[in-house]
Amino acid sequence: MKKIIITIDGPAASGKGRIAKYISKKWKYKHLDSGVLYRRLAHKLIKKHIYYQDFIKIKKYIKQLKDISFRPNKRLRTEIISKMASKIAIYEFVRDFINKSQKKFIRENLKHSHFVVDGRDIGSVVFKNASLKLYIDVNEKNRAKRRYKQLIDTGEKSIYPQILKDIKLRDKKDKNRKQSPLVIPKGAMIINNNNSFDETKDQIDKLMCDL
Ligand code: C5P
Repeated sequence: MKKIIITIDGPAASGKGRIAKYISKKWKYKHLDSGVLYRRLAHKLIKKHIYYQDFIKIKKYIKQLKDISFRPNKRLRTEIISKMASKIAIYEFVRDFINKSQKKFIRENLKHSHFVVDGRDIGSVVFKNASLKLYIDVNEKNRAKRRYKQLIDTGEKSIYPQILKDIKLRDKKDKNRKQSPLVIPKGAMIINNNNSFDETKDQIDKLMCDL
């Protein structure tokens, strides 16, 4: 079965997930959030008291992991897990493991032929030959405001200036790491998600109609 893939890349809190869910619901694409995999692995390591610097232990831990679940979970969205996820994401062996898991999930999924996958390196590294590549552009203040609201809504204590600082730090890590840095993938369409979501939906609808 031929698989049709749409990739969505962009910085932290740019709305990739919301856009992916919109595409998934309206056009019946199976949504895969690659951030969930980095977060779930980060969570598992935190629980095992394995520090991000201890790459030998992380490697060993990954070796005995057969699979990692894609199931989203609100409890994976805390700031502690966000930070650990972006720290372990610098390791090539972590990225290899997660990339293989994504490819396997799509290859072995017999129920679906259409997928929308979001992350940081999806159009640039993981699925370079995707049918449509999107890059989500939002300025950092808007992203921090949205992230702050999300955290307050989920009951986590948070302070806006701290969130803005954390977002800048995560951007720096994601854009400057040696392995698969966050870039605008070759051939990607840039979606401006600074304004209302209706404006974003208009941009997406036009691209989907041409697909
Ligand atoms: O997208 P989300 O914020 O859930 O991702 C958590 C972290 O996982 C990101 O800050 C990033 O460092 C890492 N990540 C990545 N590549 C992906 C998805 C996430 O490096 N494809």
